[in-house]
Amino acid sequence: MKNISFTLLTLASLTASQYATAYEKGDVLLRAGLAAVIPNESSSNIVVGNDLGVGVSVDNNVQLGLTFAYFFTDRINIEVLAATPFKHQIDFSTNDPLGTGNQLGDVGHLPPTVTANYYFNTIDSSFQPYVGAGLNYTLFFNDEFTSENSAAGLKDLSLKNSFGFAAQIGADYIIDDTWFVNAAVRWIDIDTSADFNLNGAAGYVQSIEIDPWVYSVSIGYRF
Ligand code: NI
Repeated sequence: MKNISFTLLTLASLTASQYATAYEKGDVLLRAGLAAVIPNESSSNIVVGNDLGVGVSVDNNVQLGLTFAYFFTDRINIEVLAATPFKHQIDFSTNDPLGTGNQLGDVGHLPPTVTANYYFNTIDSSFQPYVGAGLNYTLFFNDEFTSENSAAGLKDLSLKNSFGFAAQIGADYIIDDTWFVNAAVRWIDIDTSADFNLNGAAGYVQSIEIDPWVYSVSIGYRF
């Protein structure tokens, strides 16, 4: 009997310490840190009348990432990801068909993402892992060819905006009632196509799947 009541007391104190720092309904989290977008891309070939026999590739970029999250229950929050504009170099995937160098151009994008996240509320209250799923809208802008490609007659590059699925795993490490640190890995389905003009002839790349992994590390503040 003594042992049982001791066990119950221990469980009660463990539970109490867990909820001293674990998240609660109504909590608001703000995180700021670095976000790296690492494309895992594949592309169909560039076509201008004929198939030029080469596609495009998209390189990595790191920007300032911001997330804002609101807990609707003790375990579930809705999170919005925002960032300073990403800028990616676009290259020919293999050879350069116009003899203008490997780089085709640059493109900027903003990838606002809304995710619903589930927290496991682990017994070790300082470590709070979660999984989430949601939707991304990627807005492309400042699409431009390099000056070498412009001189070769390429102009009017335009990438279609993308709407797709996003998923993530992450964890907050709670320092005190206010501050925490976070690491997260996201996968975002970003699919686009490109249109352009080569010396008056319409050209396109029908399918560019960017589908990046997005790695982030942040400092967080709980309200
Ligand atoms: Ni995709």
